[in-house]
Amino acid sequence: MRIEPAPAILGHLAVPGDKSISHRAVLLAALCDGETRIEGFGRSADTEATIAAVRALGVGVYEADSTTLRVFGVGLRGLEAPEEPIDCGNAGTLMRLLAGVLAGQSGRFTLIGDASLSTRPMERIAEPLRRMGVQIETTEGHAPLTITGGPVRATTYELPVASAQVKSAILLAGLYGDGETTVVEPLPTRDHTESMLAAAGVRVRRRPGGVTVEPAERLVLGDLEVPGDFSSAAPFIAAGTLLPGSELTLHGLNLNPRRTGLLDVLERMGANVTVFNRRRIAGEPAGDLDVRPAELVGTDVSAKEVPSLVDELPLFALLAAHAHGDSRLTGAAELRAKETDRIEAVVDGLRRLGAHIRATDDGFVIRGVPARLRGGWMESHGDHRIAMLAAIAGLVSREGVEIRGADAVAVSFPGFYELLGSIRITPSTGAPTPR
Ligand code: S3P
Repeated sequence: MRIEPAPAILGHLAVPGDKSISHRAVLLAALCDGETRIEGFGRSADTEATIAAVRALGVGVYEADSTTLRVFGVGLRGLEAPEEPIDCGNAGTLMRLLAGVLAGQSGRFTLIGDASLSTRPMERIAEPLRRMGVQIETTEGHAPLTITGGPVRATTYELPVASAQVKSAILLAGLYGDGETTVVEPLPTRDHTESMLAAAGVRVRRRPGGVTVEPAERLVLGDLEVPGDFSSAAPFIAAGTLLPGSELTLHGLNLNPRRTGLLDVLERMGANVTVFNRRRIAGEPAGDLDVRPAELVGTDVSAKEVPSLVDELPLFALLAAHAHGDSRLTGAAELRAKETDRIEAVVDGLRRLGAHIRATDDGFVIRGVPARLRGGWMESHGDHRIAMLAAIAGLVSREGVEIRGADAVAVSFPGFYELLGSIRITPSTGAPTPR
C-alpha cells in the first residue's frame, strides 16, 4: 500500500466505537443475567476475537447489524469450558481480561494467541492471579495460558507497572473473591472496567491511586452505547494538525481524560484543536473535535503522562519530528511490550523517512524540523498503530510512503484507508478523493 502526499484533509468524520470499551462490553455482557444490547460496537479483528471467544464459552451473540450486538449473558459463573483452546488472535486486552473472568468459572481453559501475542508478557497477570489462589500456568511467561477456575481469594495488589489490562484482570477475578479486592496503581490508567462494572451494579470504590471492587452476585447492563475511539481518531488529528489548509471535525469521540493525553501534549505544542458538544456517552465523557493546522513547538513527555497517551506515542513522534525544537519521551519502556517493540519500530521507520530521531531505553529523542519529511517506505511489523503512523507519515511527506504490512490496520480499524481516502484533498483537483 502506498500513501501519496496530500495538501490537506477536509471533512466531518466519525470513527468506529472504542476498542477498549467494546472488548469490555462483550466480556461483561457475557456474564450478565439476561440480554445486553451494545450499540456503536467497534468492529475490528481484535473485537471479533472477543465475540468468538465468548461464543466458544457458550454465550449467544446476535449481530443485528455491523455495529449493534445483542449478547445473551449466561450469568457470572455460567461460562462453559470448550474442548478447543480459545484463540485471542492479536488481542492482549482480550487475553488478559478473559484470564481474570475465567478464574471464577468451573473447568479448565486454554488461551492461545497469534505470533505477536505469544511473545507478550503474561506473568504480569499470572502472578497476581496466583496470589488470589487461581491456578494459572504460562508458557515460560507467555501464552498459551491454562487456567483452572475455582475459589478466588480477595487481595490487595500494588501494580508494578501502570497497566489497565493487568488492573482489569485482577478486578474481574475480584468479582469472584471472598472479600474486597483492591488494585493500587502507580499512575492512573484507563478506567473503563471499573466504570462498566459500576454500571452493571457492582459496588466499586475509587480513590486517587486505587480502586476496590466487592464480590458480585449478578451483573445487569441493559443497553450500552460505545463512544468513538479516541485512539482511532488520533491519526486524523495528527494529519489535520500537520497539513496546512486542513479543516477536520470528528464527531462522538470518547474523551475520557485517562485516554486523551495527546490533547494535552498537542496543546503544549501549540496545536489548534477545539472540543465542543461535550456530553456523556454510556457514562463516559464524550464530545466533538475541530482540528485546524498549526505550527508546533517541541515538548517533553514523561512517565506520569504516558498511560494517558500510551497508544498515541508513535504519533507524538511524528508530530514532534515536524515541530520547532527538540522533544523527548521518557518513562515509556512499556512501548517495547506492545504488539511490536514500538520504540524500535517508530525510530527505525521515521528515521528512514528522514526524521532526526534516536531511541533510548525508555523512549526517544527527536530534533524537530518544521518541514515535510522526505518519505520512502515503512514496515508495520504487523502492528496496527505503526501501519497508521506510516499512512499519516506518507500523507504529510514530500514523496509519499510505501507501507509494508499495511493490512495490520484491520486489528483495530478495518476501514481506515477508505476513510482517509475520503477526506484527503487530491493535489490536482483540490477536491476530496471519491470513495
Ligand atoms: C488497553 C490498555 C493499554 C493499551 C491497549 C488497550 C485496554 O495496555 O495499550 O491498547 O483496553 O485496557 P496496558 O494497559 O497494558 O498498558
